[in-house]
Amino acid sequence: MKIIGTGAYVPEKIITNDDLSTMVETSDEWITQRVGVKERRVSVNETAADFGAEAAKKALLSANISAEDLDLIIVSTITGETLCPTTAALIQKAIGATCPAFDMQSACSGFMFALDTADSFISSGKGYKNVLVVATERMSKILDWTDRSTCVIFGDGAGAAVVTEGDGYLASSLYTKGDDEVLYIPSCTKNSPFFEKEYADTKVFMNGSETFNFAVRKIVDDIKEVAEKAGISVSDIDYIVSHQANIRIISYASKRLGIPMDKFVVDIDKYGNTSSASVPMALDDLVKEGKLKDGDIIAMCAFGGGLSSSACIIKWSK
Ligand code: UT7
Repeated sequence: MKIIGTGAYVPEKIITNDDLSTMVETSDEWITQRVGVKERRVSVNETAADFGAEAAKKALLSANISAEDLDLIIVSTITGETLCPTTAALIQKAIGATCPAFDMQSACSGFMFALDTADSFISSGKGYKNVLVVATERMSKILDWTDRSTCVIFGDGAGAAVVTEGDGYLASSLYTKGDDEVLYIPSCTKNSPFFEKEYADTKVFMNGSETFNFAVRKIVDDIKEVAEKAGISVSDIDYIVSHQANIRIISYASKRLGIPMDKFVVDIDKYGNTSSASVPMALDDLVKEGKLKDGDIIAMCAFGGGLSSSACIIKWSK
């Protein structure tokens, strides 16, 4: 497959670090230095499906195809408004598509898992040509806004990519290590009178330093792995589009891979960590900069709850 269009959307409301320091004991200095976020977007009225539909419309426009040309829609989200209908079904309706649509998730790595799934559908020979992959997250609805160790990190947003037949997806890797202690977000359906266990709190819990160490190790290992699979060396990579979880994670990865920081796309300062939406949002930022040219090698990578991680190598051509 190859990527022929990208799009992103964020809600209008900006929450700055100074705004947050009126809500929890924190400071602009701490958040900027320890995480790299200056501000993030939060939704007032829009849902993850609403953001996703806007990002999807932009991706279709940039791919120069219409919603009727889509053969499949795959949506990554952990923050959809309803379990049923899926967020994918709501986005399908909003953009006026008629193709099958389904949700899948692997927390912050979800977009990468969905992209790899899109590639598998396209190469399956079952007639899927144009696939829309969307990642959309309204993290603000599942955060504990009294917990300074998580609420300062995350933000809302959506990113999307249209992919079609092609030879631009050179290699990929998917990884899961089942773990329910380092990072978890319980789902919340408390209706059963028969269930005897106590229901868990529905908000994000993250052991920051363990997640941090996992992230740095996996970015480095995954990128080396996919570079080797693609038959290139790490120094051949022109741009790295990484999950935007913490600027220090990116900086460690840059040092350990020997890839200069200016090859990493960085937008965490503007949007914070938007979970699975962060990779397609950063990819869209890179595309919009207008520097990409045919033949450029892009490495993308993500990591997070699961624990999970994923990476791929793309040879850009449009
Ligand atoms: O997207 C999913 C994947 N997620 C990630 O990859 C996130 C990975 N983890 C991280 O980015 C970092 O671990 C955090 C940003 C979550 C935390 O940064 P840290 O440097 O690991 O901080 P820490 O948890 O070790 O805490 C250091 C200190 C503590 O104070 P004491 O005990 O040393 O007095 C915390 O209470 O910083 C304190 N602290 C804060 N201080 C001001 C924690 N959060 C804040 C805050 N403002 N918001």
